[in-house]
Amino acid sequence: MDLIIKPTEICNFKCTFCSSTQISEEHTARLDLNKVFAFLKRFPETRTIIVNGGDPLMMEPTYYWRIIEYLEKNNLPATISLTTNLWPFFVKPKKWEELFLHHRVGVATSFQYGSGRLKGDYSVFTEEDFWGVSDMMLERIGYRPSFIAVITEENEDTVIQTVELAKKMDVVCKVNYAMASGDQNKPYRLSKIYEKYVDIWKAGLHHWEHNTQQMMKRLKGEPTICPQSRTCDEGIRTIQPEGDYYSCGAFGDDKDKAIDFKHEMNGGFVTPLRNDLDLLSLKQSCFTCLMFEICNGCKKTIKDLKRHDMVEGHCRHMKQLASDILRVNGINKTITPYVKEYEEV
Ligand SMILES: C[S@@+](CC[C@H](N)C(=O)[O-])C[C@H]1O[C@@H](n2cnc3c(N)ncnc32)[C@H](O)[C@@H]1O
Ligand code: SF4
Ligand code: SF4
Repeated sequence: MDLIIKPTEICNFKCTFCSSTQISEEHTARLDLNKVFAFLKRFPETRTIIVNGGDPLMMEPTYYWRIIEYLEKNNLPATISLTTNLWPFFVKPKKWEELFLHHRVGVATSFQYGSGRLKGDYSVFTEEDFWGVSDMMLERIGYRPSFIAVITEENEDTVIQTVELAKKMDVVCKVNYAMASGDQNKPYRLSKIYEKYVDIWKAGLHHWEHNTQQMMKRLKGEPTICPQSRTCDEGIRTIQPEGDYYSCGAFGDDKDKAIDFKHEMNGGFVTPLRNDLDLLSLKQSCFTCLMFEICNGCKKTIKDLKRHDMVEGHCRHMKQLASDILRVNGINKTITPYVKEYEEV
């Protein structure tokens, strides 16, 4: 089991694409740690506590020290993985240094080209800013953090440049497509991001991009993780600032498919995504299509593409990309032709 916690919705950045701006009724709500401890009691085998938000560094370091103390006292194996914009660390490294150096704590960050990732004064978080943060991590903590880049229509031409940056930094980045939650009102079409992953593979840059590596495994039946795991709802849970509880962090952003916390803490166990008929596939013909695992790997993406009438456009494009994706997976087969199922709006 893994656990995502979103301690607060508060963030020092103002990203235009941010998926997590409506996760609390009360903007200043903070997640009560007793909820986290109850979860760890129920699932002591928890491997990773992924901290998201808002921004994790909007909490005081003591918040995370209390989690570490609980883990040590109860002899639990979990590690803590923070995903943060790291700007508060850049400004005041001393405040965070001891925590980041703890053997249970890992730090990842986010950076993308374009004009969407904005600092608190609404100026762009530039590559130069990012190098500053990354250099500070290297100098003080001993490594450069890996990073997530979110792709929207606005910065879609920067994907190769992003992976080249990861190569220069010697980290593996994740080029993720934008989901439709919070301030981002439209998803980035899945087929378009797969076209980018094929480009990354063709450029020989896949060693530095996580999702391209996942694509290279997916159709071979090798195990993959989010956003390409149809059984994700048995292996991950999310607790938000006000204590509401979900399997997937992205459904949590929409406050959709909540799980009854008490029920699970009392020994119950539910899989809220797998049994939802509307989330089974993008369209009926997927069930006989070689691209099934690629197109239907993420339930939140199925929801987004259906809701925004993007299924047919995605499918038509995916059929064109299929031969390359099959080749990446070492599969020598031909894809069935595109068949329209829905009228596009
Ligand atoms: C919500 S943020 C919280 C952590 C931290 N504030 C940060 O930005 O790294 C978690 C991750 O989601 C990414 N993200 C934000 N909005 C997104 C969206 N609409 N679709 C996909 N990922 C998104 C962020 O870039 C970040 O990598
Ligand atoms: S993506 Fe992260 S840094 Fe940007 S506004 Fe959202 S929570 Fe803050
Ligand atoms: S290419 Fe089309 S039919 Fe095939 S799995 Fe993808 S969406 Fe479904």
